[in-house]
Amino acid sequence: MQRMISGIKSTGYQIHLGNYFGLIRPFTDHHVGRDSAIFIADLHSITTVKDGRTLRRNSHEIAAELMAIFPDESVTIFRQGDIRDLPILNWVLNNVTPYSLMLRAHSFKDSQAKNSDINMGVFNYPILMAADILGYDSEIVPVGRDQTQHLEFARDIAESFNKTYESECFTLPDAVFGDVPVLPGFDGRKMSKSYDNYMSFFEDETSIKKKIMSIKTDSKGVEEQKDPEECTVFSYIRLFGESAEVEEIAAKYRSGGYGYGHAKLALFDIIMRYSAGYRARREELLSNPDRIRDRLATGSEKMNARMTERVACVRELAGI
Ligand code: ADP
Ligand code: TRP
Repeated sequence: MQRMISGIKSTGYQIHLGNYFGLIRPFTDHHVGRDSAIFIADLHSITTVKDGRTLRRNSHEIAAELMAIFPDESVTIFRQGDIRDLPILNWVLNNVTPYSLMLRAHSFKDSQAKNSDINMGVFNYPILMAADILGYDSEIVPVGRDQTQHLEFARDIAESFNKTYESECFTLPDAVFGDVPVLPGFDGRKMSKSYDNYMSFFEDETSIKKKIMSIKTDSKGVEEQKDPEECTVFSYIRLFGESAEVEEIAAKYRSGGYGYGHAKLALFDIIMRYSAGYRARREELLSNPDRIRDRLATGSEKMNARMTERVACVRELAGI
């Protein structure tokens, strides 16, 4: 069975709508008929989160959210930091990765532009990510478009290892993307934890309502006719609504007598309806932390075995 993997950092404590369209949707679309796993990338998160209690809390919350989104246990969920042989693979891959390749990394260049004294974790980030993918023999990797270069690096690093050791130890992975290339936040920039412009299904109702009500629109009055395609509120209605209701709301925009306030309330109702199951399951999981721990333990047991098997091949080839 083809293997699929993806990861999400726990730099914040909620999965936002950008993550949902960039990662969760394509993951769900490709899950059927595949052996799929998704992990909390806590090791990648320590490049920026420097407080143990915060990171542990974030990872626990993200785990609960992933489990609420994927209640079906055929999706393996685990924590990156629980994989014992990952650092071995990471180190071996460091030794087949050209420095010149790493200097081209967008993530490193962006961080360097913002902060002249970045840490080595940021620089080595794509090599650890390659280990996350190659160590489980993953063939497909659903990610947002901003991760394209990281996937190219994972392929380059796999090829470099295979060539160095004249082997076919690693499978070359392919990225798969969702239909929404980059979801904008309500301020028009990419929705991201780092811009604090995000919205999550898991926020409390009041906060969701407040964020929706603050979406910027033009100044047309209630009675005026409006073009739905030019309205941010409508672009979200289209993403979450059912097609008949989306068409109905579009017609109301065009005919006039329908204000942005009405559209925002419609969007709020749609989002609450869409997320009701996720929210209820998350609450239930957070009040039963043992269930979260048990599922993570099952996931890490499975993925540790897989990584150890691949690392045995690497040890043999590298002579360690
Ligand atoms: P953030 O940018 O908020 O820190 P992450 O880096 O944890 O998010 O991203 C997790 C996954 O979600 C990645 O595959 C990423 O490409 C995807 N993703 C994040 N933000 C967006 C967005 N606004 N639109 C589409 N995909 C996104
Ligand atoms: N770099 C990814 C992000 O920022 C997270 C990640 C780490 C990942 N390892 C991975 C994604 C392996 C896919 C596969 O979102």
